[in-house]
Amino acid sequence: METVSQNKTALVTGANKGIGLEIARGLCARGFHVFLAARNPHSGSEAASQLAREKFLCTFLPMDVADSASIREAFRLVAKKTNRLDVLVNNAGILLDHSQSMLQTPESLINATLQTNAIGALLVTQTFVPLMQRGGRIINVSSSGGQISRGISDFAPAYCISKTTMNAITLQLASALASQGVSVNAMCPGWVQTDMGGRGAPRSIQQGADTALWLAVEAAHSLTGRFFQDRKEIVW
Ligand SMILES: NC(=O)c1ccc[n+]([C@@H]2O[C@H](COP(=O)([O-])OP(=O)(O)OC[C@H]3O[C@@H](n4cnc5c(N)ncnc54)[C@H](OP(=O)(O)O)[C@@H]3O)[C@@H](O)[C@H]2O)c1
Repeated sequence: METVSQNKTALVTGANKGIGLEIARGLCARGFHVFLAARNPHSGSEAASQLAREKFLCTFLPMDVADSASIREAFRLVAKKTNRLDVLVNNAGILLDHSQSMLQTPESLINATLQTNAIGALLVTQTFVPLMQRGGRIINVSSSGGQISRGISDFAPAYCISKTTMNAITLQLASALASQGVSVNAMCPGWVQTDMGGRGAPRSIQQGADTALWLAVEAAHSLTGRFFQDRKEIVW
C-alpha cells in the first residue's frame, strides 16, 4: 500500500452506502484523503472505487465495528499509511427493532444493537485516537431517538437505547479528550431516505450528511461535548 499524501485524513465507518458514503464523498470534496471503512468488502471496495473514479483520494478499509479484532486490524492498515488522522466519523449503525416492544426484545438483538451502535463507536475511537492530533475532530452519528430530555417514545427501543448510550459515550469522550485538543460531538441526521430510513423519509442523503460535514470542517473547534441537528445544538 502506498502512503497517503499531505492531505488531511478522515475515517468514516459504515461508509459503503447511505449517509456514511455521502459523508465520505463530502470529506473527499473538501480535500481529505478518506479511509472508507465498511464490513462488506465487496460494497466497500466498490464505493471506494466509485469515489476514486470521481478523482477523489479514497482508500477502502475493511472494518466491522462490532468485532474488536477487525478494528485492531484496520488500525494496523491505517497506521502503515499515515501517522495522522484529522477526522473520525462513527457512522456505522443498525436498526433491527422497528416495531418491537421493549418487553419482548430478544437479548441477542439488544446485544448486537448496543455492540454496533454504541460500543463499536467507542472501541473505534479508543483504537484510532493515538493517530489524532490537537485540532482533531470526532463526530458520532447519533439520532434524536436517543434523546431523553424530550421524553422517550416506544419506537425501536433497542436502537434508541443504543443512541442514548452513544450520546453518553460522546460526553465521556469529549471530557477525556479535552486536554488533547480533540473535539467530540454527536449529531442527528434527521429522518433520511436510506436503506435504514426507508423511501418515505422526507430528507435527502445530502441533507442527512450536512451537519456531520459541518462539524468535521467548518464548526468552531471549541464546540465539544454537544449534540447537533441542522447545524444547531439540540438537547440530549
Ligand atoms: N436514515 C435515518 O433516517 C437515520 C436517522 C437517524 C440516525 N441515523 C443514523 O445514521 C447512520 C447511518 O445510517 P443510514 O441511514 O445511512 O443507514 P444504512 O444505509 O442502513 O447504512 C448503515 C451503514 O452502517 C453499516 N454497518 C452496520 N453494521 C456495521 C458493522 N458492524 N460494521 C461496519 N459497518 C456496519 C452498514 O453496512 P452494511 O451495508 O454492511 O450493512 C451501512 O454501511 C446510522 O448510525 C444511523 O443510526 C439514520
